[in-house]
Amino acid sequence: MSRPARHDTAPPAGPPPPVEPYAATVLERCDRLAAFSEEPDRLTRRFATHALREANATVLGWMSAAGMDVHQDAIGNVIGRREAAGDAPATLLMGSHLDTVAGAGRYDGMLGVLVALACVERLRDWGRALPFAVELLGFADEEGVRYGTAYLGSGVVAGTFDPAALERRDAEGVSMAAAITAFGGDVAGLAAARRDAGDLIGYCEVHIEQGPVLEAQGLPVGVVSGIAGQTRAEAAFEGVAGHAGTVPMRLRRDALCAAAEWIGAAEAFARGETNLVATVGQIAVEPGTSNVIPARATLTLDVRHLDDAARDAACNRLRERAAAIARARDLTSGWTVVQETPAVECSPELSGALAEAVAEAGCHVMRLPSGAGHDAAVLSRITPVAMLFVRCAKGISHNPAESVAVDDVAVAIDVVGRFLELLALSR
Ligand code: GLV
Ligand code: MN
Ligand code: MN
Repeated sequence: MSRPARHDTAPPAGPPPPVEPYAATVLERCDRLAAFSEEPDRLTRRFATHALREANATVLGWMSAAGMDVHQDAIGNVIGRREAAGDAPATLLMGSHLDTVAGAGRYDGMLGVLVALACVERLRDWGRALPFAVELLGFADEEGVRYGTAYLGSGVVAGTFDPAALERRDAEGVSMAAAITAFGGDVAGLAAARRDAGDLIGYCEVHIEQGPVLEAQGLPVGVVSGIAGQTRAEAAFEGVAGHAGTVPMRLRRDALCAAAEWIGAAEAFARGETNLVATVGQIAVEPGTSNVIPARATLTLDVRHLDDAARDAACNRLRERAAAIARARDLTSGWTVVQETPAVECSPELSGALAEAVAEAGCHVMRLPSGAGHDAAVLSRITPVAMLFVRCAKGISHNPAESVAVDDVAVAIDVVGRFLELLALSR
C-alpha cells in the first residue's frame, strides 16, 4: 500500500477540543479503577487477580468505545490500537501499568494509561488522523508484588520475560504459570507475544513523579532524562531455634537479631553514599512465634542508582556485610539476586519533542531523572522511550494519599497532544 498523501494527515481546520473535560474524565476513571481491589479497605491489585481482571475489562471497554481494536495478550496486558491515516505502518506505543502495590494510591500506573486514552479520544473527537498508529498498553504487572519479580507485562512485550519465573510461587503457593492460565492467559504463547519492533517509532509513558521535585519547582510536568537501575535481592540468615525462656543471651544464634543488625548497616551505608537508595521492604521470620528464638530470617533488598557500576558495588558491599554479620554471630547467610534492571537513558529525540511540546504548552521545561522503575525501562530494550512526569502532591506515592491535580492532568494531555503533532510533522 502506498503512503498516504500529505493532505490525508493534515490537522482538521478547527482547533483541537479543550483538554479540561478529558482531564476530568481521567480522574473519574482513576476513581472507578480504584474500586477494583483485592482488599475491601485499601487498593491492592496484584498481577493476575480478580481485581486486575475487572480493571482490564473496564479499560478494554473504554478503549473499544474510543474506536480502538482491542485484545488481551498472553500475559494479561490490555492492548488497544488506533490505526494511522491510510494504514501507514509506523506505530507509537503509549501506556503504563494497571497493577498496584499493596495499599496503593490510584494514579501510579493508571494515570499513564488513562492520559494516553484521553489523547486518543480527543484525536477522535477532533477528527484528527495521524500518519502513524497509536498502540495503547495497560501492563498487567509492573510492581512485581505477587511474584517478587517486576515488569512481567512489559517484559513479555519486550521479549525479556524469563520463562524460569513461571515456576515462582506466590504467598499462597500458586505458581506463576497457574496464575497466568487461570487469568485466561497463555503460558505457551508468551514468547510469541513479544512485540515486533520493526514498525515502532518509540514508547511514551506518562506517570506521576512519585517525588517532590516538580512541586518544589512549581511545575505541573517534567521531562524524564533517565530511569535508575534496580537490583532486587533476597538476603537470608540461618541460626538455631530455641526456647525464649531458657537459652542465655550469649549462647543464642538468633537469625532475626542478625537481620536487624544488617538492616541498620544497610541504611547507614546508603545514607553515606550519593544518589544511592537501599530498602528492606519485607521480612519473613521462622518459626515466627513470640516464645521461640528465630531460626531463619529472609529479607528483601531493593537497591537503586542511576549508575549501574555504583549499584553493583553497593550490592557487593551489602552482601559482604551480611556474610560478616552472620560469621560474627556463628550463623550462615544466603544471598539471591532476584532481578536486575539496568539504568536507562531516555531517547534524546523523543524527549526533545516532549520538551518542545512542554514549551509550546507554555510551561518551563524541566528535565529530571526517575528514581522509580517504569515499564519504559523495559520497553527501551526494543524501542526509544520518553517519559512525562506529572506533579503529585508532596511527592507521596505507593500510599493511598497519592494525589494529582486535575489542572496538571490537563497540562499533561495538552503536552502529549502537542507531542503527537510534532511527531506527525516529522514523518
Ligand atoms: C515501581 O513503582 C518501582 O519503582 O518499584
Ligand atoms: Mn509503583
Ligand atoms: Mn508505576
